[in-house]
Amino acid sequence: MAGPRTTAHNAGTTRGHDQSAATPLMTLTYRSRATTPLSESQLGDLQHSAAARNRAESITGMMVYNDDRFFQWLEGPPASIARIWSSISRDTRHADIEALSVHSAPTRLFANWSLKLTTGQGDPLIDDLTAAAMSSTNTAAERLAALVIATEPTEARLLLLAAHAEFRSISALTELLIEPAARCLGDLWADDDCGEYDVTLGLCRLQTFLREIAVDSVQQQHAHPLVVLVAPLPGEIHMLGASLDAEALWQAGHETRIRFPSTEQALKQIVATDWFDAIDLSLSPAFTREHRADQMTHIIDAVRRASMNPSLVVIAGGRAFYDRRLSGATVHADATSTSAAHLPGDLARAHRAHA
Ligand SMILES: Cc1cc2nc3c(=O)[nH]c(=O)nc-3n(C[C@H](O)[C@H](O)[C@H](O)COP(=O)(O)O)c2cc1C
Repeated sequence: MAGPRTTAHNAGTTRGHDQSAATPLMTLTYRSRATTPLSESQLGDLQHSAAARNRAESITGMMVYNDDRFFQWLEGPPASIARIWSSISRDTRHADIEALSVHSAPTRLFANWSLKLTTGQGDPLIDDLTAAAMSSTNTAAERLAALVIATEPTEARLLLLAAHAEFRSISALTELLIEPAARCLGDLWADDDCGEYDVTLGLCRLQTFLREIAVDSVQQQHAHPLVVLVAPLPGEIHMLGASLDAEALWQAGHETRIRFPSTEQALKQIVATDWFDAIDLSLSPAFTREHRADQMTHIIDAVRRASMNPSLVVIAGGRAFYDRRLSGATVHADATSTSAAHLPGDLARAHRAHA
């Protein structure tokens, strides 16, 4: 493709944002894949409306669209970032959405752009930013992971409370900080920088702090709430994933029952005794646990046979599905979920497809 090209019209420009030191600034980068290729005019429309909302939210940034892939850099007040991210991450025009980094920033890089759009590569600034974000770790999550396994986890708790005060969104806190921190814990273990006990301890503490933060959450009204069983796969000792999933589904208005069956038999007993519209089964949010995919497939088959509901919707989650982007079919589930933040949407789609 030819060199960089920014759109001819000025939809993405802004008069510049004030850099008041009092306003905390956050930067979020992500990449994703267009579900169907966008024409030039569709891309122009997307930029036009996105730039208008960004302006209203004091967000600035840029978006690269190349080879059906998106890369976006957003900067602005954390609560605005959380609101925009909630919309972007639910947008069906793209998939395989992966937050690459989120951290506080001293200054804006795109102060004059509500949304700069480029469709080419070769712009040194864009190339540098893309490379930096792709290789950069999620610094806030890395810090949280280190703090949560410290002897005294007070700082981890304070970091989460402060992040929540800024985001004002449990779902953004979950997807941008808690889930990445869980994966960082798994990476620390893989690099021999901590033991398995530390990972389990860290995940438990994240779960405890999240409960503390979410205690005042308000449940949304749902026109057609579903009864959902949320459980870690029997034998999975990491429960943070199930806990985040239960929180997200409850907040979205569903009737959520969380259980921790230790055996396949115990799980079958639960679905044979009570009616569930759907079941969410999760593997560890920290470890990939690919070797357990076969067991998960076997358990899902057994659960379907034992269930009172012959049309039970099954969703599978855990780091394995985040890292490998495996489809539901690989484990005989109806869908997979890469983040608790997307679970209500994943469930709604899977339930519609089943109906
Ligand atoms: C790749 C991509 C990038 C987007 N970037 C932005 C953005 O920077 N700002 C924005 O307001 N909307 C953006 N959108 C559009 C949002 O996903 C969403 O459609 C819009 O904000 C309306 O929000 P709502 O659906 O929650 O009403 C983007 C969509 C896509 C597919």
